[in-house]
Amino acid sequence: MQWLHAQASVNSGVKQEDAFSIDKVNLYERLGFDTFVKLSTNFYTRVFEDDQTWFRTIFSNSTKEEAIRNQYEFCIQRMGGPPLYGQRRGHPSLIGRHSPYAMTKEAAGRWLYHMEAALDDTHEIDSDSKNRLFNFFKHTAFFLVAGKELTNNHRLVGYGGCKHRVGEA
Ligand code: HEM
Repeated sequence: MQWLHAQASVNSGVKQEDAFSIDKVNLYERLGFDTFVKLSTNFYTRVFEDDQTWFRTIFSNSTKEEAIRNQYEFCIQRMGGPPLYGQRRGHPSLIGRHSPYAMTKEAAGRWLYHMEAALDDTHEIDSDSKNRLFNFFKHTAFFLVAGKELTNNHRLVGYGGCKHRVGEA
């Protein structure tokens, strides 16, 4: 896990202490429920209308409404609010939940492009909160890319004859 965080810092340019500055203040108390709903709505409206088909189709197995709810419940919980995500979906397990998708550096870049614009469009978010949130998102996006690479490499090792890993693939 530490290797993944280190890799995420190298590829995102965000130090771990900056990525987790979200834990130094309670952003849920500062920003409130409705602001997170608005942020996720702004984000997924952009994603589902993206003119770059390769990126938009990564989300084609989800409805916009469910994607919005999954994201704002996760963010509210992670930013110090009630555990809405865990109560409905269980442990976030973000690497596992993203394993069906094309988690490339290009996808992380496009995801972050939309998220930065969504943060700018959500005027209730002050600049200090925006910096904290964006650093967290940026680091996590590249953490997920590194997690996908690691999973893929394990599959290859398993395929090459490492018996106990074959079942995991
Ligand atoms: C769900 C893609 C980055 C958190 C999803 C889904 C896709 C996806 C296709 C399914 C939509 C749904 O039905 O909810 C990506 C891509 C990323 C990325 C391509 C960048 C490379 C992130 C980041 C975070 C995140 C940075 C958090 C900081 C979540 C959460 C869910 C989700 C919480 C809901 C999972 C569930 O409950 O099933 N993502 N994501 N994602 N993503 Fe991401």
